[in-house]
Amino acid sequence: MLFFINFKAYKESTGSNAVTLIRGIEKQFGDHPSIIAVLNPLDSLIDTKLTKFAQTADPLNPGAYTGHIPVGLLGGYRYSGVMINHSECKLTLEKIRDIVQMASEQGFRTLVCAADLKEVKEIVAFSPDYIAYEPPELIGGEISVSTAKPEIIQEAVKLLQGTGSKLVVGAGIKNRNDVRVSKELGAEGILVSSGVVKSPEPIGVIIEMMKEVV
Ligand code: G3P
Repeated sequence: MLFFINFKAYKESTGSNAVTLIRGIEKQFGDHPSIIAVLNPLDSLIDTKLTKFAQTADPLNPGAYTGHIPVGLLGGYRYSGVMINHSECKLTLEKIRDIVQMASEQGFRTLVCAADLKEVKEIVAFSPDYIAYEPPELIGGEISVSTAKPEIIQEAVKLLQGTGSKLVVGAGIKNRNDVRVSKELGAEGILVSSGVVKSPEPIGVIIEMMKEVV
């Protein structure tokens, strides 16, 4: 099971606070391969043993682009992969296809978010490493995807069977039980943000969740 922690653009998980959170995770878990930090682009230069994913990218090589994040630059920042199409950063299907293709060719892992089963079906055709099912209305809320949408998770698991893509689930995941239920439903990873980064004790929450992840 994989544990993607999306640092988003919260004050609590960017800049010096991102460094503090990352050092806390490293102190507890070293370079645990199941933990993946999905960093804000402003924090790309934070040096860490943790596996790092970018929060989005553009299907570009380095060059004269302003305000873009070229896939071709990610390696220089020691990213291992890229998350794209988060519901807070939506992309066209064409762009998703191009980023997945370019990132894979350059050796990066790819995580593509999907808001519903229709989008899961569309995205699986591009063969990303992971597809994260995240119902937008549950993001940042109190009810987890595993509690509110168990049958959709099971459907998504079926859809991905026999493909090279693994199912990750996210939205409202806050505790060990949410992780356990996600796993029982067939998810191979979780994507969490506020449950960790907005908690007064983020490391304590991660320790609890990791009891199910490992
Ligand atoms: O990318 C993770 C995400 O959108 C879920 O957010 O705050 O519900 O864990 P949250």
